[in-house]
Amino acid sequence: MDPLPLFDTNPSPAPSETLEEGAVLLRAFATAAAPALVEEVSRIEQAAPFRHLVTPGGYPMSVAMTNCGRVGWVSDRTGYRYDPVDPDTGAPWPAMPRAFLDLAMRAAAEAGFPGYDPDDCLINRYVAGAKLGLHQDRDENDAWAPIVSVSLGLPAVFLWGGRRRSDPLRRLRLESGDVVVWGGPARFVYHGVAPLKDGLDPLTGAVRLNLTFRKVF
Ligand code: SIN
Ligand code: FE2
Repeated sequence: MDPLPLFDTNPSPAPSETLEEGAVLLRAFATAAAPALVEEVSRIEQAAPFRHLVTPGGYPMSVAMTNCGRVGWVSDRTGYRYDPVDPDTGAPWPAMPRAFLDLAMRAAAEAGFPGYDPDDCLINRYVAGAKLGLHQDRDENDAWAPIVSVSLGLPAVFLWGGRRRSDPLRRLRLESGDVVVWGGPARFVYHGVAPLKDGLDPLTGAVRLNLTFRKVF
């Protein structure tokens, strides 16, 4: 008789969970759509290449970014803003693909925010070592509509804090296909991403992609 395996080599995924009122982690919500989403990212980056934006303090960010939608989030020495035009190309940002909008709307509705109509999808690309410091998303006029954040490719540790920067942090492991939605009373929770560990993902290779949808106006 074969011995029982010492380790479960195919553990069942962690369950979806409510992080707090207005915030949920939907495990594997985007897994089925993931290949199509990644293909759309390749299309978008041909028109609006990934770039390392410079913070108002003058430092290039380790995460590379691009956008699609009616506006795009950008940063430079003058500050953060939503711009209808890609400052690198002078052209409008690529339109938001139907598959993006569809996924974002379904995730928002699942989290209790029906009728979601995002103006921007900010696309973040992380390589090993890239990270995103603790921050609030507060450049949007709409202070209630959720942020919908879709993880694709390599796993990451998402830092989930509170309304004050000094609040304790939870460390949530996000796998490809996981979606986090936060809005309403959780809209201004501090969050960030710990330095990415290297690895190879069958879908994205050596990178993690993150789509964050925002309702700006
Ligand atoms: C963000 O906070 O804008 C991105 C979060 C992530 O990459 O998971
Ligand atoms: Fe954010």
